[in-house]
Amino acid sequence: MKCVKLNTGSSMPLIGLGTFKIRGSNTVDEVLEAALSAGYRLIDTASVYRNEEDIGNSLKVLLPKHGLTREDVFITSKLAPRDQGAGACRAACLQSIARLQCTYLDLFLIHWPGTQKLRPEDPRHRENRLGSWTDMEQLLAEGKVKAIGVSNFLERHLKDLVASCKTVPAVLQTEFHPHLIQQDELDWCGKYDVHLQAYSSLGTSAADNKLLSDPVVRKIAGDLDKTPAQVLLRWAIQQGIGVLPKSTNPQHIKENIDIFDFSLTEEDMSRLTGLHTGTHYCWNPDSVV
Ligand code: A2P
Repeated sequence: MKCVKLNTGSSMPLIGLGTFKIRGSNTVDEVLEAALSAGYRLIDTASVYRNEEDIGNSLKVLLPKHGLTREDVFITSKLAPRDQGAGACRAACLQSIARLQCTYLDLFLIHWPGTQKLRPEDPRHRENRLGSWTDMEQLLAEGKVKAIGVSNFLERHLKDLVASCKTVPAVLQTEFHPHLIQQDELDWCGKYDVHLQAYSSLGTSAADNKLLSDPVVRKIAGDLDKTPAQVLLRWAIQQGIGVLPKSTNPQHIKENIDIFDFSLTEEDMSRLTGLHTGTHYCWNPDSVV
């Protein structure tokens, strides 16, 4: 598995399995079985996905079955917006670790720059995320988490974080695909050696998925005898951007990691990058102060 070196010095697989909306012990067992068999070694979850316990139960059985140990997989979880703030963040992280039945997380992210139930302009959003970050720095020092980072932060949230705290995040996980190229955030990450990891590389689960059906994506895929999903994922990893495709379909799970035997030409890369419309298919954090 191709890995990226984080600014902590540790390695993280460039492709991971996203697990949002993958819930229920049977479904989680089947998806993780397919993913581990296909070679996935990064599992991305979050407290708000409400599947940490199922993933923990599943890994307890599946890791030994696949001849793997905890150290062979990279586990990411995230702080729920309701748990933002000093003290609450620490407790929430320890609960995630307990639900996943492990002793540490490879990566812990602040899921969202804001705090649940506060009005968008409330100054406590900032106060709480800086408080969370202080807790995360402590968890990092204790080895409870091997790396810390943020998700859905915009450039202004990132700038404020590094201006106010000691530790630069290792990862920014955010929505990123040819229809939404977050260039300011990508440039900021380059400057601070922060790894940008994309979610929703394939657009959404909505029936009218405009990304997988984009004519340019389909044309490039057809010419290469690859699928639109493989082209979208390859476009990201070819720029060093990590991806977290999620699927409950074993064929898709396999297909989504099978993207290392071809490359996109400079021209194809530019055509895909030219598709940017600034469309968020998931959540837009722009309103969070
Ligand atoms: P499926 O589970 O049937 O594979 P999201 O934006 O919520 O992450 O949704 C990802 C969507 O992309 C899911 O609906 C998933 O459906 C679909 N998907 C994942 N991999 C592929 C693929 N290789 N080809 C087509 N659709 C895919």
